[in-house]
Amino acid sequence: MFEFDIQYRDGRARVATFQTPRGQVQTPMFMPVGTQGTVKGISPQELLEIGSQMILGNTYHLMLRPGEKLVEAHGGLPGFTAYPGPFLTDSGGFQVMSLGHMRKITEEGVTFKSHLDGSAVNLTPERSIGVQEALGADVIMAFDECPPYPADREYIRRSLERTIRWLERCQAVKTRDDQALFAIVQGGVHQDLRQQSLDLTLPFGTPGFAIGGLAVGESKEEMYPAVAFTAARLPENKPRYLMGVGHPEDLVAGIALGVDMFDCVYPTRTGRFGYALTDDGRLNMNSSAPRTQLQPLDDECDCYACRHYTRAYLAHLIRAEEMLAPRMLSLHNLRYLHRLVERARGAIAQGTFQTWAEDWARRYFRQAI
Ligand code: GUN
Ligand code: ZN
Repeated sequence: MFEFDIQYRDGRARVATFQTPRGQVQTPMFMPVGTQGTVKGISPQELLEIGSQMILGNTYHLMLRPGEKLVEAHGGLPGFTAYPGPFLTDSGGFQVMSLGHMRKITEEGVTFKSHLDGSAVNLTPERSIGVQEALGADVIMAFDECPPYPADREYIRRSLERTIRWLERCQAVKTRDDQALFAIVQGGVHQDLRQQSLDLTLPFGTPGFAIGGLAVGESKEEMYPAVAFTAARLPENKPRYLMGVGHPEDLVAGIALGVDMFDCVYPTRTGRFGYALTDDGRLNMNSSAPRTQLQPLDDECDCYACRHYTRAYLAHLIRAEEMLAPRMLSLHNLRYLHRLVERARGAIAQGTFQTWAEDWARRYFRQAI
């Protein structure tokens, strides 16, 4: 279980298979975000059809509503959501920071007011693991603290040291051996702090490692070197997961730097706002041009929306505020990112990743359409 086998390497990029209890996935992969036990607007059948491999769930949201016990009564997330494949759950620390009110962080854990009803909630490493065991994902994440950006160095250092003590507590209370616990490397955009976090985290020998604390408001000029530095120092033979990333260009850059797993709300969120991802950049379907265009969102896409609908029809749905519009744009954008990583895997296997990535970027950034 949780074997990670590398098939091809090209520079620092690699193609691998990752074995989980609910099936084998191929990396590099993009994981759609199903925060509340659903990828917004997309059915499990559609997810399987577009090539989703692993779905993300959130401890923070699901413990508050409907409560992990109810999910457990369905046999965990697969039974609750009817998505039969592998799941990964995030530990809640990051969501407390972005969504909880009146947070207080202590050595014990985090106390906050629920964003739903204002009630006081406690989240500790022990509770996070307990919830994640009830949710039953294949991969679970250590309870960490992701400092805001910007934060001062001393705060980031104290926070990453506390994250290590929390990791120790996570590992100590974990009971299920059919779940892989991934540790999360923090340290902000500072190389020495990333190194300190690596030195303290690697000895735990978890079956995978995440790069956390990025895509929180820093520039790409700060993020990419932090990813490069961290990924290069993670074990070769274990999956590397860049949390909360991303945009198409961040996937291509991350893959080049040796990252294997990504997740982000971007494709579904930007789809709900009326934007479609294509190799020619991001298409604004709220603008006037698409209203009379008889071609699909993306000529090269094989998703249901692109096989059946014109841009003009989808632009009409958006203007009429029909709910098929956000659904179809989300479906297309997810397929776009799955196709992007599929093409990256193909290029790595052929040994042509660098030129493929350069060609892709030249076209993607040529112009906004
Ligand atoms: N999602 C995006 N970044 C992070 C992070 O640093 N920690 C956790 N737990 N989740 C994240
Ligand atoms: Zn499409």
